[in-house]
Amino acid sequence: MEVVILKNAECVASTAADLVAELLNNRPSAVLGLATGSTQLALYRQLVNRHLNAGLSFSQVSSFNLDEYLGVAPDNPQSYRSYMNREFFDRIDIDKRNTFLPLCAGNENPHLVGLRYEQEILNAGGIDLQLMGIGGNGHIGFNEPSSSLRSRTRVKTLTKQTLKDNSRLFSKHEFQPKLAVTMGIATIMDADRILLLATGGSKAEAVARMVEGPVSAMCPASALQLHERVTILLDEDAAAQLRNRDYYRWTYQQNESLKDRFGV
Ligand code: F6R
Repeated sequence: MEVVILKNAECVASTAADLVAELLNNRPSAVLGLATGSTQLALYRQLVNRHLNAGLSFSQVSSFNLDEYLGVAPDNPQSYRSYMNREFFDRIDIDKRNTFLPLCAGNENPHLVGLRYEQEILNAGGIDLQLMGIGGNGHIGFNEPSSSLRSRTRVKTLTKQTLKDNSRLFSKHEFQPKLAVTMGIATIMDADRILLLATGGSKAEAVARMVEGPVSAMCPASALQLHERVTILLDEDAAAQLRNRDYYRWTYQQNESLKDRFGV
């Protein structure tokens, strides 16, 4: 795992945007895995800005989101489809026909939706770069604690903690979905590269368990320890409970100078 500790949330977003831009420069038709949530907003703002002011194009990109609420229609403002259109897709030149979420509204069978989503990812050639956040309880996507580390796209029931964490996004009398269709942990692990962003003190404990704890279904993000190419971008607050903070800073400096010398 490459753990990068940066000054603040804005630096986390701009470093993540640099990595996305580098990928798209080398591979304009890259397949991106995308996430919703508050942490990703600053990254989407950065990418939109680079599209508008620096010519970054998404015209050949395809994307697969980690998750979508079960039974929520795409035009519902609380759907993740609406979030993605509003915060990102409507502001860049991506072809929306190439943007996918595990949509399961109406009477569709969620099991079949999961199978189809897995097939769609395979048909696109797999995910080149998966962007994601982490829940306060260590979830990735909506793989809540106790999710199988070999899980594939399926329905998950959200935990009370996740519902509470996300209740800020719903008004008092609004329906808050308790079920979601999410890529599984094995689906996420198939991505070529993973970039996880975490900012703020409320993530510090989950980040420490992910990076330095045992690999365990009770902290789904800890499965990323088994992935070959993971970069974790943190601000100081999210990094606060890491025991090896100084070592990660030192390693990052070494890696940057290796990059300068050898371009890798
Ligand atoms: C969202 C998702 C979730 C969030 C996580 C962090 O698509 O998959 O795993 O990334 O809950 O959310 P924020 O950034 O709102 O704290």
